[in-house]
Amino acid sequence: MRPVSEVGGRRAWLRWLAMAGPIATGVLAALPAVAVWLDPVLRPRRRRGTRVVVGPASALRDEHPVPMTVVGERVDAWERAPRSTLGVVWLQRRPDGSILCHSAACPHLGCRVGYDERARQFVCPCHSSRFALDGRVLSGPSARPLDELPAERTADGMIAVRFARFRPRIATREEI
Ligand code: FES
Repeated sequence: MRPVSEVGGRRAWLRWLAMAGPIATGVLAALPAVAVWLDPVLRPRRRRGTRVVVGPASALRDEHPVPMTVVGERVDAWERAPRSTLGVVWLQRRPDGSILCHSAACPHLGCRVGYDERARQFVCPCHSSRFALDGRVLSGPSARPLDELPAERTADGMIAVRFARFRPRIATREEI
């Protein structure tokens, strides 16, 4: 006959084993959901913009900037939209043939900056910030120039832009 304490110890151990099984199964079953929930936090943040082909280089004009819509994948926390409008850019051909690109998002509060052909200036409809063709602030509340974005002509005659958004209201560029 076994001592009472040894029997009690075995029972306790079996009880613990009976509870541990379902707990481990529950934890394993929850792992995929936890991974999805943490994805936006763990996903490496894109800090160098997204390369997007915006249109044909033949659309550029010599005398005035041309607006083009940036369409690409938008990733917001848990959602991915493969073909979304990310923004608008203003494109100009420099005398050396390279491309100057500015985001149309006003650095003040993000309104879409338009273009005044007569004055040859970019102008924001919200609080009247005005910008020179090179993006400099001429007047208004914007704390920094228009945000310049890298752009290049592709081998097949298109324009590719590295599109990014920047925090408004501040004097320095901080990608968001
Ligand atoms: S949002 Fe452009 S000037 Fe205010």
